[in-house]
Amino acid sequence: MKRLSLLFLLLLVTCSAWAAEAPGKAAVASAHPAATVAGLETLSAGGNAFDAAVAISAALAVAEPYASGLGGGGFFLLRQAGEPPTYRFIDARERAPLAARADLYRRGGKPDPRLSLDGPLAAAIPGLPAGLVHLASRYGRLPLADSLTPAIRLARDGVSVDRIYRERALGRLAALRDDAESARLFLDQGEVPEQWGLLRQPQLANTLERLARYGSSGFYGGETAEKLVSAVHAGGGIWTLRDLADYQVVERAPLRFALQDGRELISAPPPSAGGVALAQSLAILQQLPWRGAEPVQRSHYVIEALRRAYRDRGLLGDPDFVASPLKQLLNPAYLQGLAKGIDPQRATPSSVLPPAPAWREGQHTTHFVVLDRAGNAVAATLSINLPFGAAFTAPGTGVLLNNEMDDFAADPQGSNAYGLAGSPANTIAGGKRPLSSMSPSFIESAEQFAAFGTPGGSRIPSMVLLAMLDYLDGKPVANWPALSRYHHQYLPDVLQYEPGTFSPAQAQALQGRGYRLEKLERRYGDQQVLLWDKRAARVEPASDPRGIGAAALLPEQAPAAR
Ligand code: DON
Repeated sequence: MKRLSLLFLLLLVTCSAWAAEAPGKAAVASAHPAATVAGLETLSAGGNAFDAAVAISAALAVAEPYASGLGGGGFFLLRQAGEPPTYRFIDARERAPLAARADLYRRGGKPDPRLSLDGPLAAAIPGLPAGLVHLASRYGRLPLADSLTPAIRLARDGVSVDRIYRERALGRLAALRDDAESARLFLDQGEVPEQWGLLRQPQLANTLERLARYGSSGFYGGETAEKLVSAVHAGGGIWTLRDLADYQVVERAPLRFALQDGRELISAPPPSAGGVALAQSLAILQQLPWRGAEPVQRSHYVIEALRRAYRDRGLLGDPDFVASPLKQLLNPAYLQGLAKGIDPQRATPSSVLPPAPAWREGQHTTHFVVLDRAGNAVAATLSINLPFGAAFTAPGTGVLLNNEMDDFAADPQGSNAYGLAGSPANTIAGGKRPLSSMSPSFIESAEQFAAFGTPGGSRIPSMVLLAMLDYLDGKPVANWPALSRYHHQYLPDVLQYEPGTFSPAQAQALQGRGYRLEKLERRYGDQQVLLWDKRAARVEPASDPRGIGAAALLPEQAPAAR
């Protein structure tokens, strides 16, 4: 009898461990419905989360030419199912061309911001194509060509022009008009195309086909590389064939940080500043009573944590070029000190906050989440930087180039398109990756797995933090990307907020605490999240209501017919 109950117990334990290990259901949330469908199609065809990530990334590259693409790059955070799971971080960030120098965007001794924003001189060497090849060959189950099929079809058959496309094109109209090939592809007689018009990209379909057939050398060599380099040169850029041939993705150790209650944050390490900012903010908040606080008090704690974390961003850069003081920045005593310095009632003006400690001496936009039935998962943020990137398309390739070079401190004394202060750690050098805010992230515990991320430039870490706090507060998944947002990035010393975030009385109370408030005209961000509750065997994705994205669930597979 005793033996029987022992056996029963063993069975129960084994079953519950199994239940925790595999969600059974699969889920996708992405910024575009066509990309979500591409992910579901790939999963249904037997692909795992990594194959689906390739399909979704490539479909986003076609359906959202304003947000990401083969001419850009990004970060993929991976969870490989297992007990314990393995986490990986694929850095497919763009790299500065080898001929780039610190004064690349200075003319007559003065910085010229346009040069790092529009046209091919603003473009860094793309990383996304190499990222897709790496994902498929190392982690996928399907051939790359299969996972690229939905994107190739979308590029050939066309996608409809939607509300977001039109808004982004309007914002970049002058730059798009300046480049004949971009205007031909993305505008209609020099104007923003009508909604529901069809955007066909046959040359991009051909470029994707070459990638599918030849792998990396289908993009970084041969016909595509030659067309890219000659177009960049003709437009005043400095790319060489060697820049393309030399491009490599880098697998880096993800940033891992233990949180309270047996939870762990898994996020983006440098060259992203996002993971560090999230770890620091969460660690500071863990020492403050934010959870039970009324809205103004809670916002106060969150803003002050963000202010301190964004200050320390200035110490970070490409880890292949500068040593980032991660140990010091994530040291518990240091973070306790930061929390202690927060006045519970008054804003700390950024000007009186001591500068970030000088630890370095002596050395040196779209997002998606996907979970498969086995428990493999990917959170990825992909970018070409500003909408429509550098607004420059290499003729014959359909490849719209990024303007990620603007994420460097082109002027260490100045700031970039997001108002982020320059820093010596992030100056331009040939082959270096610009510092990023992109923060694909997980929080995992024995009971739950949650994935987060969004585009939004410097506001990415603050958006992801707000969603994480909502998760930690036990709020419904749909609320995480929907909640009203606010943001502080140390400099400028301004508290930005979306319309509707604070009531007039709350705004007044915050002003009374010493904050300079800026109510934004529009809402921002496009967060895609998912929760796998292992105990409840529940999987739930959610897509930001601000965008046109779609979240979808693939139910458990029906048992095979006998
Ligand atoms: O890497 C970065 O931080 C930026 N290039 C991200 C740009 C972005 O999110 C634009 N989206 N709205």
